[in-house]
Amino acid sequence: MVMVLTPGVTCSGVCVFAVMSEAWRSDDLAQVVVEEQSLELQSCFTKLSTIREVLLRRHMKVAFFGRTSNGKSTVINAMLRDRVLPSGIGHTTNCFLSVEGTDGDEAFLTTEASADRSSVSTVNQLAHALHMDPTLDSGSLVKVFWPKSRCALLRDDLVLMDSPGTDVTLELDTWIDKFCLDADVFVLVGNAESTLMNTEKLFFHKVSERISKPNIFILHNRWDASVTEPEYIEEVRKQHLDRCVTFLAEELKVVGLDEAEGRIFFVSAKEVLSSRMQQAQGMPETGGALAEGFHERLREFQRFERTFEEFISQSAVKTKFEQHTVRAWQITEAVRAVMDAINIAAADRKICCLEDREEQRDRLDFVRGQINRLSDSIKEKIKTLTDEVAAKVALALSDQIRSLPVLVEEFRADFNPTQDNLQLYKTKLQQHVEDRLVGCLAHRCSVGALGDVRDAQRHMIDSVRPLLSTSVQEQLSSPSSCFQLTYDLSLAALCADFRENIDFQFSLGWTALVMRFIGAANARRALSGSDGRLQDGSTFKDEMVVSIATRLVSVTSRASMTVLVVGGVVCLCCRCVCVAGVFVLQVWRSVGWRLIALSFSLYGVLYLYERLTWTDASRERALKRQFVEHAARRLRTVVPVTSSACGQQVYKELSATFSRLTQRVDLSEAELEGTIRQLCFRIQRLENVQRRSKAFRNRATELETQLEAFSVHYLQGN
Ligand code: GTP
Ligand code: MG
Repeated sequence: MVMVLTPGVTCSGVCVFAVMSEAWRSDDLAQVVVEEQSLELQSCFTKLSTIREVLLRRHMKVAFFGRTSNGKSTVINAMLRDRVLPSGIGHTTNCFLSVEGTDGDEAFLTTEASADRSSVSTVNQLAHALHMDPTLDSGSLVKVFWPKSRCALLRDDLVLMDSPGTDVTLELDTWIDKFCLDADVFVLVGNAESTLMNTEKLFFHKVSERISKPNIFILHNRWDASVTEPEYIEEVRKQHLDRCVTFLAEELKVVGLDEAEGRIFFVSAKEVLSSRMQQAQGMPETGGALAEGFHERLREFQRFERTFEEFISQSAVKTKFEQHTVRAWQITEAVRAVMDAINIAAADRKICCLEDREEQRDRLDFVRGQINRLSDSIKEKIKTLTDEVAAKVALALSDQIRSLPVLVEEFRADFNPTQDNLQLYKTKLQQHVEDRLVGCLAHRCSVGALGDVRDAQRHMIDSVRPLLSTSVQEQLSSPSSCFQLTYDLSLAALCADFRENIDFQFSLGWTALVMRFIGAANARRALSGSDGRLQDGSTFKDEMVVSIATRLVSVTSRASMTVLVVGGVVCLCCRCVCVAGVFVLQVWRSVGWRLIALSFSLYGVLYLYERLTWTDASRERALKRQFVEHAARRLRTVVPVTSSACGQQVYKELSATFSRLTQRVDLSEAELEGTIRQLCFRIQRLENVQRRSKAFRNRATELETQLEAFSVHYLQGN
């Protein structure tokens, strides 16, 4: 019998509880299993564990409870027909005492602290042993083994459990857990003088709450005392009876109203014990001074013993299993309900996770597609902006080169044509020009370029922001404010080869005239008498002739009036000087020698004038003019490089910004991938939960079928 029920009820309980505690600990199920369900399953498991112990134990256990001095120990002694347990006035039993049979002839006891057998041959010895042991208190258990040969009741594997009075200590919960949860039958020993007390009722309520409904007998002991007031005896009896019936049938609901009366008895254990002991000693049953109505009370006690024995032996299966089967039924129902709830909750949660995962996947695809599209358009924008800045800088620099004469003219410093001072003057002049050039460029380009860069950065951030997760968005900062365009003209290096010529030159002198016609460089070569051959084989003189002719032609074609006038003068002078020989005779003849002399005088006066007005100021002007020409020529060559360098600065700044933003997008993508992975994992776990809860629901249903079969087979027949 035990083997049939135990595996089903117990294993199922253990498995369900194991699964549920595992489920309760997991994060997913914390959201699936509500606390109420978890507690219910835990309580089911506790009950199943206790029931398992009851079912595994082969003997019947009867626990006696009641207030102190009600006569619990005396009732047990009366049932055993011997003074086995100590009893007396006041608080006698100070710990839990179980009495069971031993096959030997010697009575002995064991305690929880020691399994050693202590010999006890008389009840006085036992009482002495119990009182002498300081380790014993109301929470400890002493097992008394009494020879079966001396007591018939103990032959049927019965264990009787005596307890200290329920009013002695408040540790009811501990007692119930430790000694009573596995009892098959409970005997509540009350007394005639007082009705059931709350502590006694509470005790049974707790037993009922923790395990199956208890099988209870109620004895109203010390009924012999009632004979002192015979006129009230029936009334008092009825009163006790009604209250106990209400307690058993209506409060605890352990028996029906019709059965309840059969579980309540009015006895006198002391009388029964003393008469039985007298009988055992060969004396007549009523040998002592017994109160009136003894026989009636004896019969009542015997009726109790009969009912009790019937309950214990004839209906052993029912006693042991009926209530537990009902409880098991309730548990399987509870388990089934909880598993259904878990299944539904897991399914709901799974749907949410699936939707969530789908959403996250869509978002990931969107982010990836969007960042690719954005990347192309932003690269295009960066290129456009770079080109714009380069063009702007080129234009501004060209304008500045054109206004170089003004910048140079603005320069003021002490001018002294000695070598050292001249070098210092030139250095300062270069510095001044460079500063002014850079300042003007910054004024014209930097502010605009910086604004464009900021706008472009803001545009990038605004475009990328919607693609970022909230946490990454929080880390986004506004565009950097430290970007500045720098213009590296390196004027000092450009003008390192600048050589000024501030020696006096007569404007109608041979050198000046040659320079006018063939250029400064050619003039220097021509005047130095070089006759070297050019690469193509023509002589330098040929080259010079061509140059003069070209200049003459170009002179006529120049639009500028100023140049024409200068050209005319130069032509005139040249004609005077160079063709003097050719015309001298004709002039001589036509104007005479006086005019010639006048011309020479004028030439000389002009020379003298120019020589005298060639001061430091004139030299400074000449130097500045030459510097302007040189610097303008050099600066024009570096316009493309400088403007492109500025464009590159913008390109680098914007590319760095975009690169930082794409890193953030990568971070967000990684976050999304992580979330999707987690969701997949959770979905898998929820599917497992669904599968397992379904399996356990099926197990519970199977178990119900087994319980029903068991009930039909073993219980309903009894
Ligand atoms: P604790 O062990 O202290 O909880 O008490 P108990 O419930 O075991 O009571 P116990 O059996 O020790 O009896 C207490 C006293 O009441 C003893 O002196 C008994 O002789 C006495 N007594 C027990 N039963 C009866 C009875 O039916 N009638 C009368 N008059 N006295 C009884
Ligand atoms: Mg006692």
